Amino acid sequence: MAALSASCLVGPVPFKDVATAVDGHSSTPEEYEDIVSGLPSSTALGMVLRQYRGSWVIQERVTAFISLQRRFTPRPGDVLLASPAKCGTTWLKALAFATMARGAYPPTDAQHPLLRMNPHECVPFMDELFTAGQDARLEALPSPRLMHTHMHHSLLPASVTDNPDCKIVFICRDPKDMLVSLWHFVKGVRPFTFDDLFNSACEGKTPNGPIWDHLIGYWSTSKTSPDNVLFRYEEMLIDPVGHVRELARFIGQPFSHADEAAGIPADIVKLCSFDKLKGQGANTAGSYDGKVFSFAHETFFRKGVAGDWVNNIDARDGATL
Ligand code: A3P
Repeated sequence: MAALSASCLVGPVPFKDVATAVDGHSSTPEEYEDIVSGLPSSTALGMVLRQYRGSWVIQERVTAFISLQRRFTPRPGDVLLASPAKCGTTWLKALAFATMARGAYPPTDAQHPLLRMNPHECVPFMDELFTAGQDARLEALPSPRLMHTHMHHSLLPASVTDNPDCKIVFICRDPKDMLVSLWHFVKGVRPFTFDDLFNSACEGKTPNGPIWDHLIGYWSTSKTSPDNVLFRYEEMLIDPVGHVRELARFIGQPFSHADEAAGIPADIVKLCSFDKLKGQGANTAGSYDGKVFSFAHETFFRKGVAGDWVNNIDARDGATL
């Protein structure tokens, strides 16, 4: 499909359709490198992590986070999805995109973008765009924008966190399931055992760790700010349609009586279901190719259930896979 001209569109649009038309590379000021070299560091899981404002960040991402804090300008209507890795980001991206873009792309449309591209191609990953110096691609997106980050809440710029026009949707999951999911996701490409991963996680040293601070940061703001909402993967599995309704209400696009009568919320859930997405050609082939990591699209879909940790972790003495 030809790249879309963003100027005449209303968002969110599939990111990949717009991004390919945007050139431009921003460089990192030297002072950012100086900041990085002064931060505490630790080698964990074959990666160098830096402790930046309480969070363990992959070294290559620290300058990106500084750039994001200093350069990112939120716009009214922006919706930011946030998550620790392996907590249902792919699913949330698909649901949020299908919900926000339902006017332009009804969920039963045979040409729906989620049937031709991976959810990560529909919704941009800000951390990676700033790492690659490609944040101009975010500027090119028409409003309202839908974006995603793995950053801790405490690392987001105040222009986002103190902004009632910018909504934040966080998804979390039982950390034991998250670690099992992460292990299966990376085991072919990373030189560490599950015990290494488990022990590092217990020390807080995983990318964007500690996991508990990640959760508490978004959980506490979801309790105090009407512009933040927290979803739990396990609860979404039990009542996906209820969560899609809540999502639509939260972002200011509640379903109308006509939408409900037409079954739109249920159609969105069906379109974004594990089996439907896993079977799409865009998800059985192709890959996500970032500056720091690359993964085959199919690896984003494994089991899609809650509680799989019992099949993988010995509850008495921690971890063995
Ligand atoms: P499992 O490895 O436990 O199966 P992320 O998208 O943040 O990387 O999280 C990946 C987890 O979400 C994986 O969990 C994956 O199978 C699951 N997942 C992906 N798409 C899903 C969907 N449409 N519905 C439910 N779970 C999904």
